[in-house]
Amino acid sequence: MPRTIIEPFRIKSVEPIRWTTRREREQLLRAAHYNLFLLPAADVLIDLLTDSGTGAMSTHQWAAVMEGDESYAGSKSFDRFRASVQEIFGYRHVIPTHQGRAAERILFGIACKKGDLVPNNTHFDTTRANVEFAGAEAVDLVIPEGRQSQTDHPFKGNMDVVALRELIVRVGRDRIPLVMLTVTNNSGGGQPVSMANICEVSALCREHKIPLYFDACRFAENAYFIKLREKGYDSKTPKQIAQEMFSYGDGCTMSAKKDGMANIGGFLCTNDDLLAQQQKDLLILTEGYPTYGGLAGRDLEAIAVGLQEALEEDYLRYRIASTAYLGNHVAAQGVPIVQPPGGHAIYLDARAFLPHVPVEQFPGVALAAELYLEGGIRSVEIGSLMFGKSAKMDLVRLAIPRRVYTQSHIDYVVEIILEVWRKRGSIRGLKLNYEAPFLRHFTAKLEPV
Ligand SMILES: Cc1ncc(COP(=O)(O)O)c(C=O)c1O
Repeated sequence: MPRTIIEPFRIKSVEPIRWTTRREREQLLRAAHYNLFLLPAADVLIDLLTDSGTGAMSTHQWAAVMEGDESYAGSKSFDRFRASVQEIFGYRHVIPTHQGRAAERILFGIACKKGDLVPNNTHFDTTRANVEFAGAEAVDLVIPEGRQSQTDHPFKGNMDVVALRELIVRVGRDRIPLVMLTVTNNSGGGQPVSMANICEVSALCREHKIPLYFDACRFAENAYFIKLREKGYDSKTPKQIAQEMFSYGDGCTMSAKKDGMANIGGFLCTNDDLLAQQQKDLLILTEGYPTYGGLAGRDLEAIAVGLQEALEEDYLRYRIASTAYLGNHVAAQGVPIVQPPGGHAIYLDARAFLPHVPVEQFPGVALAAELYLEGGIRSVEIGSLMFGKSAKMDLVRLAIPRRVYTQSHIDYVVEIILEVWRKRGSIRGLKLNYEAPFLRHFTAKLEPV
């Protein structure tokens, strides 16, 4: 295989991105109160705020969009959507939703009651919030390596099976309506879960008659990591691996804004007929009729095609290699990142990057602001501003949208990070001038100390 990473696509339609001068960016940053959420997207050169809903659709997806059947009930688009989902996921009931969190609200709203516990390798923030909204407790049981940013392990997203067994024995299976596995583990740095771990968790759940659900947002990236890193899978296709992964579970929630390669959408799957009926009843109340679930027929078409494209090996090889390229090139110069590079993002360790900036002065926000100032790159702080005093790390996430940026964009990002690394001694911390009572990172206003 040649070493050069090339995009397995060529470009048919382009979207201009705008250069700004450093002086303009200084003004823009001041006007945005040093909070990159408050910046107009048009003033960002490379936008790595999130990989969710920000991907580029293929010609096949756009062609499918034109086939969208907008019938209220029983559309052809729903049939194609369900067939595509079932081929990969294999579950009996497929319920479309407008995005992942809507599937979570319906799943937990019906399955959970006050006093219940829902174990996961690591709950994503919307998953945790929906579990808690249903009155239950969200428990994170990732393996110890998954909590250590510098430890190298091929499957840092694995569930701690011993801890899961202890929890089931301690609280009893009646208080655990379901177990969840997030593939890949977003909050833990986009780290994969191994097939062996999925099997072990599944066996334990079956032993105690507890359903196992996947938070499947980045299932294709997880399948490809299994192919690369787990014995016995190198000759299997990503689709075969994904099919095997889901065969060990009873259902899933999915945000199609990630490995669905769509700009909006999601779904909920289950093998349980009774549960599916209750879920569809609730869906009708808030999302829509069960053959569209809050989506347009054209969205269902885009997802049907996108799910299959996410499993193409050429795409996944480029995707994983390109993310690793970014991480490895900055790490080689000493930049502290969460190791090893994950599937969809690189995380800079801001406390190690800026040891002179105290945690109370938001090193992650300061570093993200500096990346924008230096090169017009937008990233996101995951640390003390987002989580307050409970933050264990201050990270800056650079999430890579799917099929949007080329390798030269990635080289540019490497160059800017290294430039900021060279100047790190002069970066100042920030103080908070305004905070909302909850989810303060979205609207916080800050200024340099
Ligand atoms: C692991 C994980 N679960 C669930 C969600 C929620 O999906 P959505 O944003 O479509 O509601 C996300 C979104 O980022 C995610 O990364």
